[in-house]
Formats: sequence, C-alpha cells, structure tokens
Amino acid sequence: MEGRAHLQADLRAKPFLRVLEGETQNPPPIWLMRQAGRYLPEYREIRAKVPSFLEFCYAPALAAEATLQPIRRFGFDAAILFSDILVVPDALGQKVSFETNAGPRLEPILSDQDFAKLNDALDLARLSPVFETIERVKASLPAETALIGFCGAPWTVASYMIAGRGTPDQAPARLFAYRQPDLFQRVIDRLVAASIDYLARQIDAGVEAVQIFDSWAGVLPAAEFERWCLAPVQAIVAGLRLKHENARVIGFPKGIGPRLEGYASRTGVNALGLDSSIDPVWAARSFGKTLVLQGNLDPLALVAGGAALDEAVKSILRAFRDRPHIFNLGHGILPETPIRNVERLLDLVRRGS
Ligand code: CP3
Repeated sequence: MEGRAHLQADLRAKPFLRVLEGETQNPPPIWLMRQAGRYLPEYREIRAKVPSFLEFCYAPALAAEATLQPIRRFGFDAAILFSDILVVPDALGQKVSFETNAGPRLEPILSDQDFAKLNDALDLARLSPVFETIERVKASLPAETALIGFCGAPWTVASYMIAGRGTPDQAPARLFAYRQPDLFQRVIDRLVAASIDYLARQIDAGVEAVQIFDSWAGVLPAAEFERWCLAPVQAIVAGLRLKHENARVIGFPKGIGPRLEGYASRTGVNALGLDSSIDPVWAARSFGKTLVLQGNLDPLALVAGGAALDEAVKSILRAFRDRPHIFNLGHGILPETPIRNVERLLDLVRRGS
C-alpha cells in the first residue's frame, strides 16, 4: 500500500510519467536518446578517468554522474540509466569489450559449442553495479524527473553476439538465422529470459519506465521480422508484466515503417518510439490516443540547428499537439551536436512553438 501511494505521488509530480499514463501535456515532456555522452564536455572529462567503457558502465559513482549530467545541464523530464545494451551478453558470460573509436567487440557465437559456453541465466551479481547506479540516481534526481531503464531487443543484441561487432546491415546475424535457425532461436530465447530478469530487477531498483531498443529491427523481411523481432519483444513485455503488472514499456523498433501498427498492438507496449523516417502526421492519424508516441526529430537537424531545426521541431509539435506525446529524437544524439542547439531545442519545445 505504501509502495503504491509512493508511486502515485511520483506520478503527479512527473510530466513524463503522466504522459506515459495517457495524459496529453502541452508542452510535451522531453528527453533525448543517448542524452548522456560524448557531445558533453563534462562526460568526456569523467569518461577519461576509466580506460575501458565497460568498466565505466560498472562503476556506480561514475555511471550515476553520467546519468545526472544532462539533467543538471538541460533539465530534461527524464533521465536514462547510463549503461549499454551489451552488458547483457557480458552477464551471460560472452567476452565483450569496447575499442576506442571502433565500437564493440565480442567473441562471436558461431556454433553449438560457443552457445554452450554461455551462462543459462543472467549473472545478476555481475550486474549489481547497474542496480546500485539506479539507486544512487534515484537518491539525487529532482522530484519532477523520471528515471528510465532499458535493454536491447533480442534481435539487436543477438546481431552483435553473432557478428562480434557492429556492421552496416547486420548481414552476419541474418545469414546465421537462415542457416542455423534452431540455434539462433536458442540465442533469442536466452535473451528473452535474460531481458525479463534484467528489466524486472531495474524496476525493483527504482526505474519508473523501461525502453526496449531495437535499433536493427528495420533490416529484416516480413517473416524474419515476425519471428526474431516481434515475437521476442511480445514475450518480454508479457513476462515483465507477470513480475510487475503495471510496468511501463516504451518500444523503439527502428526503421520498420508501416509495421509499427502491428508491433504496437501485438507487443502491448505503452509507448512507441518513432524514428525520423516516420511522418508525424501519419503517425498521429494512425494510432489511437491510448498509445503514447515518442519522437522523432532527426538527430542531424539537431546538429544543423538554425531554421532547419526550428521548422522540424515546430512540425513535430503541431502534429502531436492533441495526443499523448513525449518529445525525443528519432535515434541517438550525435557526438558532434552543438550544445547551443540542444538549448535551442528545449527552448522551442517548452515555449510550445
Ligand atoms: O541514452 C543514454 O544516454 C544511455 C546510455 C546508452 C549507451 N548506449 C551509452 C553508450 C544507451 C541507451 C545505449 C544503447 C545502445 N548501445 C544501443 C541501442 C541504441 C542505438 O544507439 O542504436 C546500441 C546498438 C548499443 C551498442 C553500442 N554501444 C555501440 C554500437 C557503441 C559504439 C558506437 C558509439 O556510439 O560509440 C556503443 C558505445 C557507447 N554506448 C557509448 C555510449 C556513451 C560511447 C562509448 C564511449 O563513451 O566511450
């Protein structure tokens, strides 16, 4: 009872949560994907203290500081836990590292033998620094700011586990899924179970909503999309709600265009993250007001600034004015983004023009 009263009080104070519960707010709440990171000098300063990115993610004091930096500087309506989607394969026992300026490197899973080396379940002790980060952030977040947790969707995470690195089109994982569908299914099933555990523990630790990042959903044909993207995310949402009945979930399946409609209804997410290719007017018309929409400014418009930024922001605000909407980018903020453009964006959104 006490817990529920606490949740209600939080809800009233936090515009982001009110919108996630279906309210329309003008101006809409705003946060940005990858809002903590290299475009901020204060991030680069603390990042330099630890040689490896994974160590940085597992250092609660530093990760909490990185989470809070964009809140202090810009006053976003939500903070997102500072971590990475690849801590899940790491906690399943796969070797994961991040090379400076080269992105992630994993020891690829290519055979039954490689798969057999993984842990059956997530090593929650390995992830305990993440839960400690959440507790620390919660203790110093302003009363009006919500905290978002996250994981990668199974398809996106698996695509790195199979290729061992980022690729332009995730061809290695797509080929693997055609050639060894049974083994790939086992990788996906392991990730579904791990993601449910991981998100449930993040909620236990204090996050108020979770986002499932499916950055590579858009590269698959229809049947593969159904099997590797949609069904696993549906299973995660259902499994998470068995543990946390009222879990608030944002799905972000990047690049899937008109498949968004089936994705939203079948997965049962509370909110849908839209990438920048989606026409806001189409989206506002296509989805009922019980589904919250999030997005979808082009990260390059934010780099460019000026009239291009002003125009893009205005048309997004106009399209979503009469429905629950959370302002965001259509993908992560780019490292070269000028800080003054982020300030301008907040100004435009908060003035409602
Ligand atoms: O949004 C936030 O501010 C929270 C932190 C966050 C990071 N990664 C920090 C990070 C989140 C939510 C992610 C998600 C993530 N990680 C995704 C899905 C979203 C997306 O952008 O598509 C993916 C595919 C990854 C995997 C990953 N992590 C890659 C491909 C890279 C290298 C490319 C890059 O941007 O550097 C990372 C590294 C990473 N994750 C950095 C940060 C801040 C940069 C590393 C550094 O600071 O040294």
